[in-house]
Amino acid sequence: MASGGPLQTVGVVGAGQMGQGIAQVAAQAGCDVIIVDAAPDFAQQGVAKIKKQLDKLVEKGKLDGAARDATMARLSHGGAHKDLADCDIVIEAAPEKEELKMQIFKSLGEVCKDNAILASNTSSISITKIAAASGRPDRVIGMHFMNPVPVMKLVEIVRGLPTSDETNRVVTELAQRFGKTTIGARDIPGFIVNRMLIPLLNEACYGLYEGLGTASDIDTGVKLGLNHPMGPLELADLIGLDTCLAIAEVLHRELGDDKYRPCPLLRQYVAAGWLGRKVGRGFYKYDQTGRMAVSP
Ligand code: CAA
Repeated sequence: MASGGPLQTVGVVGAGQMGQGIAQVAAQAGCDVIIVDAAPDFAQQGVAKIKKQLDKLVEKGKLDGAARDATMARLSHGGAHKDLADCDIVIEAAPEKEELKMQIFKSLGEVCKDNAILASNTSSISITKIAAASGRPDRVIGMHFMNPVPVMKLVEIVRGLPTSDETNRVVTELAQRFGKTTIGARDIPGFIVNRMLIPLLNEACYGLYEGLGTASDIDTGVKLGLNHPMGPLELADLIGLDTCLAIAEVLHRELGDDKYRPCPLLRQYVAAGWLGRKVGRGFYKYDQTGRMAVSP
């Protein structure tokens, strides 16, 4: 990136559902994108899944074949962080574990070019803390996408204490180039969206735990009674119950208020490995295409 110029080469760390979505919207916006994950195979599988998403859009007539092929030509996968050395920005979308994010930012800080920006898609972890691990704290920022990334319009831009005005400006512009609407949020656990959402999802878990109704009753109540597109338990399954629990734990620990205490039932589902749609079972069961198969 020429100083102050647009960001063109985007690295994505993490090829899970969020990383795939971010890589897809970046490549569709005309950026050159490299995805890496802990193992090169995961990164390769991530790229293959993006191709499937684009194929679906072509089948539905929402994208033409040439645009799909041009998008795929801008997407590649790498084997290690050093493959991101020339990126203008790297967006991290690894699991919601503080220790892991600190290691990733330390490593990216060492291998990425000096003026590269490092962004995190963290849902709750302190950007200021992550920035401190990077060795370039003024060029670290939160870029919080919503799931499913290609569909959801919002990106929360989270400035850590040392984030520079310039980093904030170019990253906000980049999110807008991806077709997103941005809001600015202070670096306080949960930012804006998850400060509202996680207590709702957690309360729905308490509702199920206390036998207020079945999962389907609770979800139908919220969908039809509040006009939400999905019920909270269905949405928790989409986000991943491990991710929901990790965010709830951050809110509880960092804000120190028991109103954020995670529901024991949520802990139990995570302990059982019922992590939601991505593993075929959470509050509901899903078939291989990710469609809901059975409610409990
Ligand atoms: N990837 C890409 N596109 C997807 C998709 C996915 N995973 N899921 C659905 N879509 C697309 C569909 O292809 C469809 O596109 P067309 O209209 O072009 O055909 C469109 O979205 C609508 O999908 P459906 O008709 O299948 O179903 P729907 O109308 O129920 O919409 C939904 C699905 C968009 C997911 C909708 O239910 C919804 O908005 N749910 C709420 C999602 C939400 O709240 N996300 C935020 C989670 S919080 C978060 O992510 C932050 C965090 O840190 C935890």
